Amino acid sequence: MAIIEVNDLRKTFQTPQGRKVLAVDGVSFSVEAGECLGIIGESGSGKSTLGRLLLRLHEADSGSILLDGQDIRALVPRALRKQRRHWQIVFQEPFASLNPRLSIQQIVEEPLIVAGTYGSRTERRERVARTLEEVGLSAEFLDRRPANLSGGQQQRVGIARSLVTDPSIVVLDEPTASLDLTIRASILRMLGDLQRARGLTYLFISHDIETVRNFCSRVAVMHHGRFVEVGTARDVLEDPQQPYTQRLMAAAMPPLPFAASVGTMSTQAGNS
Ligand SMILES: Nc1ncnc2c1ncn2[C@@H]1O[C@H](COP(=O)(O)OP(=O)(O)OP(=O)(O)O)[C@@H](O)[C@H]1O
Ligand SMILES: [Mg+2]
Repeated sequence: MAIIEVNDLRKTFQTPQGRKVLAVDGVSFSVEAGECLGIIGESGSGKSTLGRLLLRLHEADSGSILLDGQDIRALVPRALRKQRRHWQIVFQEPFASLNPRLSIQQIVEEPLIVAGTYGSRTERRERVARTLEEVGLSAEFLDRRPANLSGGQQQRVGIARSLVTDPSIVVLDEPTASLDLTIRASILRMLGDLQRARGLTYLFISHDIETVRNFCSRVAVMHHGRFVEVGTARDVLEDPQQPYTQRLMAAAMPPLPFAASVGTMSTQAGNS
């Protein structure tokens, strides 16, 4: 059964100069429970806007979004606050997304407090410690601050915060783009393990075609706010049908035969 169903979604932004930008232009798709849909496309194609619209971090102009069968565009603010625990997001820049004044405990428990259904302080602290452990951080981190953590540890905190409420859907917006290669590989492995263990549904936004190839079962290619091609990762990435996807793939191809053998986690950053 589809856990995400999006129909004809649109979003226009107004620039400070008064120019209109059609960031998402009539996008429709669905995602089955437990699946990972990768979204690729060059910078500015609308990937992050789409991820944010899905969780109502931006308000869409029109179109419909069903998450777990719920029409999330129809939720009033109070209901949305309560329901948010089922649908979470991990951002690209872990440090920028973590409040530097708060302890790791306070950062990770915040979504529990917003949802308002998660018991006493002690219970919350235990739950936070358990979630940190799941992302590879010991309870020793509870009272530390983001600035005292490495980039990889900060992103683990970002992931713990998104998982602490036991969500069903997680939007991963370039979750490893700011990390170096070895850390990137270990975080991706962990995200894959968590997906299987918890039966999570992922929307995985990335520039990096190799990462999407390894990580996602299906892929959508975004260009100027539209999906130009959607299909299994194998079909779309091995045998792209649309000229835009073919150009995107050609631009991401390693320039030398040698580079093709350097392993699965490539450093290519797509074509932007
Ligand atoms: N808050 C905003 N106000 C005005 N324009 C915006 C806003 N957010 C995004 N845009 C514009 O919408 C378009 C899509 O942006 P978006 O950030 O979704 O692209 P993206 O595919 O995520 O790019 P990247 O790969 O660089 O992260 C761009 O033209 C961008 O400038
Ligand atoms: Mg983006």
